[in-house]
Amino acid sequence: MSEKFITSTLNKKNQAQDNSLRPGDFKSFPGQDKEKEKLQLYTAAAKQRNEALGHLLLSGPPGLGKTTLAYIIANEMGSNIKSSSGPAIEKPGDLAGLLTSLQAGDILFIDEIHRLNNTVEEYLYSAMEDYFIDIMLDQGPGARSVRLNVEHFTLIGATTRQGMLTAPLRSRFGMSCRLELYKPEDLKTIIHRSAGILGVTIDDEGAYEIARRCRGTPRIANSLLRWARDYAQIKGNRQIDQAIANAALAMYDIDNDGLDSMDNRLLEIIVNFYHGGPVGVKTLAVAVGEEERTIEDVYEPYLIQEGFLMRTAQGRVAAPRAWQKLGLKPPSGKMSKNDHPELF
Ligand SMILES: Nc1ncnc2c1ncn2[C@@H]1O[C@H](COP(=O)(O)OP(=O)(O)OP(=O)(O)O)[C@@H](O)[C@H]1O
Ligand SMILES: [Mg+2]
Repeated sequence: MSEKFITSTLNKKNQAQDNSLRPGDFKSFPGQDKEKEKLQLYTAAAKQRNEALGHLLLSGPPGLGKTTLAYIIANEMGSNIKSSSGPAIEKPGDLAGLLTSLQAGDILFIDEIHRLNNTVEEYLYSAMEDYFIDIMLDQGPGARSVRLNVEHFTLIGATTRQGMLTAPLRSRFGMSCRLELYKPEDLKTIIHRSAGILGVTIDDEGAYEIARRCRGTPRIANSLLRWARDYAQIKGNRQIDQAIANAALAMYDIDNDGLDSMDNRLLEIIVNFYHGGPVGVKTLAVAVGEEERTIEDVYEPYLIQEGFLMRTAQGRVAAPRAWQKLGLKPPSGKMSKNDHPELF
């Protein structure tokens, strides 16, 4: 589901609504309590000292609120925010253009920062650390460099792949926050809040049903809420209760554990074709016709968190819960300490 589901479900109108569902301050941002507390302290301290906020890295699976938090922080700091993304900054000149347009205290938000190319990334180092960049003019013997000063800005980088960031880049962030999948209780609060904004009537049981089956992800919770609203409008009396939520989710092929057809296919392939694994992610990607990156970023975090799947050095292994879900008995001895020492 996820990426495909999100893109297919969110037409332009829905995207505008997605923005309107973004909380604008820490108070209306439920969940991620530990990271939120760190960020609140980080921003309050910088604000009190009247300084630009230190550079910040936000990481975690898609749809958990990285972009939202960047905008909340800009709001809290009273700063302007400029937004770009790793693949969009192709040349050092693009970066220079962005950096020199910033005023002191402004925030530069770079989404998918792990996808910056090496050359651009190296230019970013001096900008982050010493607030200048040396741009090369011309090539060959006539080449010379010009130093451009940059105002004291704050870089907020967002990534779904913290592991893909180079060490020099990672070390230049003053703070790093990793967002985790949300607990159903927090998602329920998010769903009630979104329902309020969208003018949808939903009871507690209906909200909980969506909350526990949305892969711990607010973006999916919001998409499913809109889907349940449509379902209630056509098949019910415009109100979402548990029965309506249940029927709407079933029609969308989301099972009782919150897994969609792709999740189930992944588990079936590992268990039925590869006797529970280990299977390399490349093989899995070919088998289900999905990109490796999508499997790793979108599907695996939830399957791992829910105890269906394990990542081992040799590849992906089906956990006992996956066998049980498919009505099979997990093979005994599969998880021996000798085979998978990293799990013990
Ligand atoms: N804590 C939260 N409370 C309420 N809504 C949230 C929360 N976190 C995220 N959302 C909602 O989920 C949507 C997705 O959030 P956001 O775009 O910030 O995610 P992201 O981590 O940047 O995702 P991506 O990696 O795909 O860029 C937002 O439109 C927002 O409405
Ligand atoms: Mg984002």
